[in-house]
Amino acid sequence: MKKIFLKKIITKLHLLPFVEQINYYREKIKNKRSNQLFRKNNPEVLLPPDFYLYETFSLNYDKFYTNGKPTAEWLVNHISEFKQFENLSILDWGCGTGRIIRHLPNVVDNSNSFFGTDYNQKYVKWCTENLKGIQFKLNNLKPPLNFKKNSMDVIYGISIFTHLSKELHFEWMQELSNVLKKDGVLFLTTHGNVHSSKLLPKEKENFDKGNLVVHSYKKEGNRLYASYQSPIFFKNLCTKNNLTILKHIPGEITNGKPQQDVWILQKN
Ligand SMILES: C[S@@+](CC[C@H](N)C(=O)[O-])C[C@H]1O[C@@H](n2cnc3c(N)ncnc32)[C@H](O)[C@@H]1O
Repeated sequence: MKKIFLKKIITKLHLLPFVEQINYYREKIKNKRSNQLFRKNNPEVLLPPDFYLYETFSLNYDKFYTNGKPTAEWLVNHISEFKQFENLSILDWGCGTGRIIRHLPNVVDNSNSFFGTDYNQKYVKWCTENLKGIQFKLNNLKPPLNFKKNSMDVIYGISIFTHLSKELHFEWMQELSNVLKKDGVLFLTTHGNVHSSKLLPKEKENFDKGNLVVHSYKKEGNRLYASYQSPIFFKNLCTKNNLTILKHIPGEITNGKPQQDVWILQKN
């Protein structure tokens, strides 16, 4: 049975909160030994509460922290093709618990300024209290951001559009474009073609026609609200918002898991 059918039944029966709690404890048990070992070997590393990790990424400390740095390097390598990391203002939109932004000051030089923003108050509070040298701000589910127009050289959003409705795709792309400086670079990830195998036949048809498909098990913004961006839909969204597509890298299947598409855009 497709996972999506099961999710629909669970949602209809109002069992989602219960299933979520079970999944959380299952993850906690699965990662217990490895997490204990991580704490023992890395007592200096500040870690967010387990539930925050579960909600935003993975409840595995090693994956969250140790792999966060190569991810920050991967991001910088991609953007460096188009922008030199000197005296830049860099914003992580939907920073969660700072998995990526916490490593950036060690990846690029300190002539740059680092900012993070999220609509989840708990994550922003944790980041502000624990991650130094980065300014964190709260935004609402809907725009605007708490930053001035034309103020950022680089904005990145890793797995944020993947949790938003069609209406908010339009509103957020416009806002991100507004906050970027001219020639600023926007780096985004989406659920592209490789994720469309998760869709029901009718949904897949709709996706293939160039539309956005949404699975809303919870309120948007939450990880259980998933949207699937047909590349045609996303390309149109970019070009309508004064953004040139510098690069689109379709996601592949890695270790049996579909990866997100990468979009590198530039404000005209
Ligand atoms: C899958 S998590 C990814 C977190 C982080 N980017 C990372 O890669 O570790 C999605 C994040 O997007 C945030 N988010 C969802 N909707 C948002 C919105 N409208 N504005 C800002 N952040 C949002 C969530 O709170 C969550 O932290």
